[in-house]
Amino acid sequence: MTDAVLELRGVSKTFGPFKAVTDMSLSVLKGEIHALIGPNGAGKSTLLNMVAGGLPPSAGEILFAGRSIVGLPPHQIVHAGIARSFQITSIFPKLSVIENVRIALMARQGRCRSLFAPAAGVMQDDALALLEQVHMERDLDRPAGELAAGDRKRLEFAMALAGAPELMLLDEPTAGMSPEERSLVTAIIRKINATRGVTVLFTEHDIDMVFSTAHRITVMHQGSKLTEGEPAAVRANPRVRELYLGEAAHA
Ligand SMILES: Nc1ncnc2c1ncn2[C@@H]1O[C@H](COP(=O)(O)OP(=O)(O)O)[C@@H](O)[C@H]1O
Ligand SMILES: [Mg+2]
Repeated sequence: MTDAVLELRGVSKTFGPFKAVTDMSLSVLKGEIHALIGPNGAGKSTLLNMVAGGLPPSAGEILFAGRSIVGLPPHQIVHAGIARSFQITSIFPKLSVIENVRIALMARQGRCRSLFAPAAGVMQDDALALLEQVHMERDLDRPAGELAAGDRKRLEFAMALAGAPELMLLDEPTAGMSPEERSLVTAIIRKINATRGVTVLFTEHDIDMVFSTAHRITVMHQGSKLTEGEPAAVRANPRVRELYLGEAAHA
């Protein structure tokens, strides 16, 4: 348990009489890629929302680096080191790719007041380095609003990385992408983890992507944890096969 960067203990979320998440425990270890899977409606997004501060848990404790983050507003959770690619990064569609990353870097450094000043050189090198990480060095001057889904996701990753997060939360990062875009985005998630040591907690429907990318997997069903373990053990679990993989096979 001491290696857990994120730990959930007995976390529940009710919406009126409906129990979306019930008594969930989860340990995300430092440096790992951890997948959260389960059928539609299992409670995966609700769980990520609670970690990110967008939804208060009805019960339970959420610890990040050993400290409770329950009750902190989303921006303080970002500041603590948890990035959520699709939420903290409101892309400015009219600005170029590199301008968007420079804004993310300036926000991190508290230079928000100079956001729209024509400071062309500010953070240029750092922004370029981040865009090289996501293989977008040839897209620097494209308006962000014109990017296809996979390119937009990679820009979001670069902007999330500008905040130097310790943990990235990704809710279905390859949703709506072509197979080519999926494999590129998946490779970048692996690279961010391997080269920058960023811990990743992600949800994903593409089961091949999950088994090829995750170091450990937690399976949810109807708001509760079915099992948690390494991919081979999860794949062999009869209840997982029945409840989740079986369903995927019929899809
Ligand atoms: N704001 C909400 N109000 C009421 N019910 C919700 C709300 N958000 C999610 N739910 C319900 O909680 C369950 C879990 O949803 P969700 O976390 O989105 O599942 P998943 O991401 O695993 O598909 C679903 O039945 C969903 O309809
Ligand atoms: Mg979801």
